[in-house]
Amino acid sequence: MKIIKSISSLKKEITKNKTKNRRIGFVPTMGALHEGHLSLIRKCRRENDICIISIFVNPIQFGPSEDLAQYPRDKKKDKLLAQKEKVDIIFYPSKETIYPRRFLTNVEVTEISDILCGKKRKGHFRGVTTIVAKLLNLVEPETLYLGQKDFQQTVIIQQMVKDLNFNVKIKIGPTVREKDGLALSSRNAYLNIQQRREAGVLYRTLKEAKKRAESGKYTPQKIINFTSQTIRQESKAKIEYIECVDAVNLKKINNFYNKTILALAAKFGKTRLIDNITINGTKKNKTQT
Ligand code: PAJ
Repeated sequence: MKIIKSISSLKKEITKNKTKNRRIGFVPTMGALHEGHLSLIRKCRRENDICIISIFVNPIQFGPSEDLAQYPRDKKKDKLLAQKEKVDIIFYPSKETIYPRRFLTNVEVTEISDILCGKKRKGHFRGVTTIVAKLLNLVEPETLYLGQKDFQQTVIIQQMVKDLNFNVKIKIGPTVREKDGLALSSRNAYLNIQQRREAGVLYRTLKEAKKRAESGKYTPQKIINFTSQTIRQESKAKIEYIECVDAVNLKKINNFYNKTILALAAKFGKTRLIDNITINGTKKNKTQT
């Protein structure tokens, strides 16, 4: 396994592998690797000749009052985990390598970057699309691997890839969860014991909401109210948003006829957690209450 820090060395490696017609798969991460990241890495490893990951805590996707400074970093552990999964290359650039002085360009997907998580996290998705565009240009992968946990991120990146004609396939891996259903996240480490215990309510409630929604008996608003009430009753979490949106265009929906995502963000103390679940379309015009 190679750990590459400079753009010139990375480019050399990419050219070498491209000349040999090797399929390159790529998993971008911010490090503090957990089973969620590893599930994507394993899929990437299985499906490609060369498996490349990046580890870069991207400063421009954090707001001024967010957790950039505290964001967990553990290079040694990440290296061991990546090695165990037979990663070929870790791209591990410095901030200055990625954003040299007079870095003046941003990539922004309009409309869908300002809703859901983007409403409170102004500029967050512009930071994500800018770094992912740069990484795609550097790594030139055939396939990019992303996690469903950050489902809005997957929709925005897919839109960017389509709009800007990036020559890359996108594969989305399912959310890996703890025993109680809590989605694995580097931020779970911030939770205290009580918050951690309470955080199980998120997925428990999403699952029950899905069941109700797919029964065809409830409107999206009823499902949102149920989810909100249950989370409030069973935890001290402060809900940031709960929304039912179309799985393809992220528009708010009035019925469950098509594939829908029920998505939420909630704060446990200072820790902001997100999760989502897919609601399969009911298609038929059933009576909804
Ligand atoms: P990060 O939060 O490190 O996540 C890297 C990838 O792992 C993302 O595609 C994310 O959706 C996926 N992931 C995280 N938790 C997961 C889980 N529990 N199950 C499955 N996949 C999971 O997302 C980012 O970094 C950044 O925004 C990045 C795309 C790297 C740009 O900086």
